[in-house]
Amino acid sequence: MQNKPIIYLDNAATSWPKPPSVIEAMERSMRESAANPGRGSHAMAVKASRVLFEARKKLARLFRVNNPNDIAFALNTTHALNLAIQGLLKPGDHVITTSLEHNSVRRPLEALKRKLGIEVTYVQTDAKGLLNVKDVEASIKSNTKLIAVSHSSNLLGTITPVSDIGEIARRRKVKLLVDAAQSAGVLPIDVEAMGIDLLAFPGHKGLLGPQGTGGLYIHPELELEPLMHGGTGSKSEAPEQPLVRPDRYEAGTQNTVGMAGLSEGISYILKETPEVIHAKEQQLTYELMEGLQRIPGVTLLGPEVGVERTAIVSFLLEGVDPSEMAFLLDQQFGIAVRAGFHCTPLGHETAGSFETGAVRASPGYFTEKSEIVSMIAAVKEISDTLKNNK
Ligand SMILES: Cc1ncc(COP(=O)(O)O)c(C=O)c1O
Repeated sequence: MQNKPIIYLDNAATSWPKPPSVIEAMERSMRESAANPGRGSHAMAVKASRVLFEARKKLARLFRVNNPNDIAFALNTTHALNLAIQGLLKPGDHVITTSLEHNSVRRPLEALKRKLGIEVTYVQTDAKGLLNVKDVEASIKSNTKLIAVSHSSNLLGTITPVSDIGEIARRRKVKLLVDAAQSAGVLPIDVEAMGIDLLAFPGHKGLLGPQGTGGLYIHPELELEPLMHGGTGSKSEAPEQPLVRPDRYEAGTQNTVGMAGLSEGISYILKETPEVIHAKEQQLTYELMEGLQRIPGVTLLGPEVGVERTAIVSFLLEGVDPSEMAFLLDQQFGIAVRAGFHCTPLGHETAGSFETGAVRASPGYFTEKSEIVSMIAAVKEISDTLKNNK
């Protein structure tokens, strides 16, 4: 990996650094295949189409999707979630979601509540973020159309029992949307085995691709209203958006250069495997948690060390505002973390940190043990300085 100018612990927002193969593929694509994909029939346009096809094929392999064309590309998770939510729900529908969701699930649902009069139930998890699936089933009503859950909380790192919810959703004939923003590339995902009808994922986090990439898996028997209408390079004579996938959900020119990078990111993950990536990240996470909780005045959010989680450590230090902590870590120690509400006021309400927000440190696959040690030492130094100044 390239020399790192900073200690980067903000992988939950966007992963960094990227494998060199990702950067090289993007440069190569820009030089050799950045014509318009799916439109012209000349050699470079065909090359561009092949870049998209390869990325789709690899995504299908990673998420065990039978037909790669059931994956529609999107700009990010938010875009994919909006396509799923706005494309599926109709007036009178009821949706079940949880008290941990990101604003990218909550806001589109709340917007449809205002616009279409849909109903939304937020199932409460405990303060550590653990969800009881029985509470999900108990919330199902005759008009429940959708269960929408994040696979892993971007505040607490808790992992949602998606397969159990998938079993309930199938039995009760409700659709299941999974927000895989924090799990794609890190936790094994098998859409069929887990009963997932819609899977929204980012390219720029665990899949190690660039920003501006992501996508939505749509079950072959599920029809969504497109979010955008426009040129697809197919059925151009028709005034309506074509039915054929993925064109139906991909109006406009796609991000060929970004997908060239994402394709290499997925190759990297398929080689390493999500299992190995998750095991390493979880180990780093436990070490960070153990070090931080030895510092007097530190409170960690989420489940204890030993409970399976993704690489997210949110914490508070008594007497220090989270944004001040993030500022000091950045300015004095060159450590990048994220403070505030992490786009999940619901999650902060659940964890009891709504008044303060929190500091979130999120290691990645390329984080080194020495960087975790430096992070712990930096928080300790900030804590000691504060005590000495009192
Ligand atoms: C759980 C969760 N959902 C949705 C999003 C939004 O992702 P994106 O930035 O790819 O739109 C994030 C981003 O951090 C997230 O953590």
